[in-house]
Amino acid sequence: YLIGIDIGTSATKTVLFDENCQVIASAAQEYDLYQPQNGWAEQNPADWADAVESTIKTVVEKAGVAKEDIKGIGLSGQMHGLVMLDADNSIIRPSIIWCDQRTAKECAEITEKVGAKRLIEITANPALTGFTASKILWVRNNEPENYKKCRHILLPKDYIRFCMTGDYATEVSDASGMQLLDVPKRNWSKEVLEKLDIDMALLPKVYESPEVTGTISEAFAQKTGLSTKTVVVGGAGDNAAAAVGTGIVVEGKAFTTIGTSGVVFAHTDNVKIDPKGRVHTFCCAVPGCWHVMGVTQAAGLSLKWFRDTLAEDYKQQAQKDNIDAYDLMNKAVEKVPLGSRKLLYLPYLMGERTPHLDPDCRGVFFGLSAIHTKADMIRAVMEGVSYSLKDCNSILQEMGVKVNEMMACGGGGKSPVWRQMLADMYGCAVKTIAAQEGPALGVAILAGVGAGIFNSVPEACERFIQTDKICQTNTENHAYYEKGHKLYKKLYIQLKECYQ
Ligand code: XUL
Repeated sequence: YLIGIDIGTSATKTVLFDENCQVIASAAQEYDLYQPQNGWAEQNPADWADAVESTIKTVVEKAGVAKEDIKGIGLSGQMHGLVMLDADNSIIRPSIIWCDQRTAKECAEITEKVGAKRLIEITANPALTGFTASKILWVRNNEPENYKKCRHILLPKDYIRFCMTGDYATEVSDASGMQLLDVPKRNWSKEVLEKLDIDMALLPKVYESPEVTGTISEAFAQKTGLSTKTVVVGGAGDNAAAAVGTGIVVEGKAFTTIGTSGVVFAHTDNVKIDPKGRVHTFCCAVPGCWHVMGVTQAAGLSLKWFRDTLAEDYKQQAQKDNIDAYDLMNKAVEKVPLGSRKLLYLPYLMGERTPHLDPDCRGVFFGLSAIHTKADMIRAVMEGVSYSLKDCNSILQEMGVKVNEMMACGGGGKSPVWRQMLADMYGCAVKTIAAQEGPALGVAILAGVGAGIFNSVPEACERFIQTDKICQTNTENHAYYEKGHKLYKKLYIQLKECYQ
């Protein structure tokens, strides 16, 4: 057996698979996101640790398998978040997570100290508020007493690894999002660290994603019912992990995921960099390969925000009918015509990465009229998020990244209406895979490779990942959305100045 753990932004999901990658048991636990100021986002690493412990306990109990038969564990999770530990390994402050936008000043500092050209050559990306390096500098600039106490810097899933095995370790895919890694060389960059005056001793050891980084500690085994013989592998950031879980491990394949954030991700055998920095280039979980991806900051988050602030009636009805509120929202959206009766939504609730790299922009409903219903607004939210994902996809095309096959995954990828919208907007078929576990399955496969059960990542994907449903493009709808996309893009250009 293998376990995959995905430490997401809204919840941690733990899945126990057999060695044919079939789900035996799964469990999830939610936690809070704190926004102490507009554009800030923090989480409590202890909440992740608690969720991981209790979901592992649940799946091990539910599955009723012998602990010695669990051969490997893979970790995945939200990228970029900053976890700082002191000399006693205590958490110094809440984690500043990926969607936090407070570090524009620190990004300017990074660009100035490293040089814009060198920064892109080494880290493959321009300085971005989402990435970890600017968050480290923010703590140093604003909370020097916390920075002084810091002895270890870890990413979210790697903090969990520390809780499980006692090792300070990371792997190339997640480390790429720290902006301290030499992405082409797949190692920490001495040059960037020196220029930013960050001590390399603070950082964990870097592995390839399927490599074993340690085994379960005695203390963690006692808490969870795991065996100390079970290996933990490097794992991957959530997007690189989802790529393995959807079989995007060879050139020509791509996926769109709609989780809290939205991502359009394509595998590449070589390092490909957008000179304008609008999409990210990171190491992927297949040793020796990379990927490019565009990011929509508030994808599923936009719909969740709408559900939680404006759709209380949907929530109540769903509770009464014992179904998911999102299913009700999807049903309502199916009845709304394309274009949501001329209502447009810009999904910039947490600023935007691709294509604007703008931490200051914010969301908009444009064209609201007394005719509009809540269902129109929900459809507009889904269309606005999809337009943003179309922006990501267009840049990959512009860079000459081959995309012969597009899969959909994440919570939003489960919605047939959302998948059809993507197929209509992109102008290409959008497929799903039979197994819906995404990142958890991806890191379980990596664990299988690390534990010696599978030979390689691509070989395991070839064996276990099968295409399920296919949404074809409706050409009339495609033409309609091409026009809509022009207006969508124009709105940001017109509003850009107003956000300052
Ligand atoms: C990727 C990114 C998000 C997070 C949260 O660069 O910031 O996709 O990993 O899921």
